Amino acid sequence: NTGALWGGRFAGGPSPALAALSKSTHFDWRLAPYDLAGSTAHARVLHGAGLLTDGDLDRLLAGIESLAAKVASGEVVAAESDEDVHGALERLLIEEVGPEVGGRLRAGRSRNDQIATLFKVFLRDHARVVAGQVLDLVDALADQARKHLGDPMPGRTHLQHAQPVLLSHHLLAHAWPLLRDVSRLRDWDARVAVDSPYGAGALAGSSLGLDPEQVARELGFDGSSPNSIDGTAARDFVAELAFVLAMVGVDVSRQAEEVILWATKEFGFVELDDAYSTGSSIMPQKKNPDIAELARGKAGRVIGNLAGLLATLKALPLAYNRDLQEDKEPVFDSVDTLEVLLPAFTGMVATLRFQTERMASLAPQGFSLATDIAEWLVREGVPFREAHEVAGACVRRCEQLGVELDELTDAQFAEVSSHLTPGVRSVLTVEGSIASRSGRGGTAPDRVTEQLAEVRQAIAEH
Ligand code: ARG
Repeated sequence: NTGALWGGRFAGGPSPALAALSKSTHFDWRLAPYDLAGSTAHARVLHGAGLLTDGDLDRLLAGIESLAAKVASGEVVAAESDEDVHGALERLLIEEVGPEVGGRLRAGRSRNDQIATLFKVFLRDHARVVAGQVLDLVDALADQARKHLGDPMPGRTHLQHAQPVLLSHHLLAHAWPLLRDVSRLRDWDARVAVDSPYGAGALAGSSLGLDPEQVARELGFDGSSPNSIDGTAARDFVAELAFVLAMVGVDVSRQAEEVILWATKEFGFVELDDAYSTGSSIMPQKKNPDIAELARGKAGRVIGNLAGLLATLKALPLAYNRDLQEDKEPVFDSVDTLEVLLPAFTGMVATLRFQTERMASLAPQGFSLATDIAEWLVREGVPFREAHEVAGACVRRCEQLGVELDELTDAQFAEVSSHLTPGVRSVLTVEGSIASRSGRGGTAPDRVTEQLAEVRQAIAEH
C-alpha cells in the first residue's frame, strides 16, 4: 500500500504530473495531530455503532496513540508517495496495527468531512494563540500609556497639527481596535464551535449509525453540523478568520506607520531600543525601524491571503470541490505571519523611548489652540459661527506677525474682537486645553486615567 486512498476502479496509478499537482502533504502535514485526534473520536463512534469489536477498538486506539507520539517527535513523516495527510496517516496506522484492523477506520468518514473538521480545530487553536499575542500588545500599549499619563503631544488630523492630546490617549487609541480584534476572534470561535462537520461523510451523511454529536464533543465542539452538505462545503469560517487576521495586520500596520514617522529626525518623537531596531550594512550611523516596516509590509500579505481565499470560494458549486484544497495555505500563512510578527512588534512597542519634551514643545505649535479660543468664546455667549471666524482671524494675525497664538498681546486680541478679553489666556496653554476636554472619551488626564483602567479591565476579561 502506497498511501493511496482510492484506486479500485482505476486501471493504473496516477500520472506523475497529476500526483505532483494533487499533493498536499507539504502543507497539510501540520494537521496530522488533529487528524489523529479525529481518528480516535471516530474509532469510538464506530465501536459505539457495533462496527468495531472491543479488541479492534483497543488495538486501534493504541496504534493511534503510538503513531501520534511518532508524529510529535518527527520520527515519522509523510512519504513521497503520499497524496495528503489523511492517506499518509492511514498508511502509517496500518503499519502500526495491520491492514485488517487499520482498514476498518475509514468506514463512514470521508476526507471531505475530515478536512473541514480538522481545519476548524487547528484554526481554533491558533486563533487563541493570536488572541493572546494581541492582548500582549495591548498590555504593552497600556504600560506605555501609564508611563506617559501626563505627557502632551500634538494631536493630528490629515497629518496636520490639530489639537493637543495626551500621548497616553493616543497610545490607547491603538489599544481599542486591537481589543475589538480579540473579541472578533472570540465571536468567530463561538460560531465555529457549534458546527463540527465530522459525520457528514463525502456530503450526504452516514448510513452506519454513527453519532456526529459524540465526535463533536470529543473534538471540543459544542455541536455537529446540522447540514452535511454545508458541513463539507462551507468555508466561510476560513474567510472570516482570514478577515480578522487581516484586520489585526492592518491595525498593527497603522501603528507601525506612526513609529516609522515618529522615529525620523524630522519628528524626533521616539527612539527605538537597540534590540528592536536594525543597522545598515553600509551606513554606520543608521538605526532602522525594520520591525515596523515588516509589520506594514506583512499587512499587505495577509490582506492578499483574504482576497485570494474569497476569489477561490466565489463560484464554487456545492458540495466539496478540489478547489477547496487551496483554502489552507493562505490562512496558514496569515496565522504564521502574525504569530512571528506580534511578539517582535510588542517588544518594540514595550521598549520605545518617547522624547516627551520635544512632543510637549510641539503640542501648541501650528495654532493648535485655535479651537480652544473658539470654544472659550462660546462659553462667553458668542455663537459658534462667529467664534470660529474670530479664532480664525487670530490665526491670520499670528501668521502676519510670525508668532504663536499665546504670543498675541492683549491689545492685539482686542483688535481682532472686543469679545477677546485677557481671560482668553486661560485656555491658551496646552495643559488648559487638554484639561478642558473632560467629557467621556476626552483627552483630559482624569478621563485618560479612567480609560486606562477600562483597557486593563478588558485585558483581564479576555
Ligand atoms: N486534501 C483535500 C483538501 O485539502 C482533502 C481531500 C479531499 N479530496 C477529495 N478528493 N475529495 O481539501
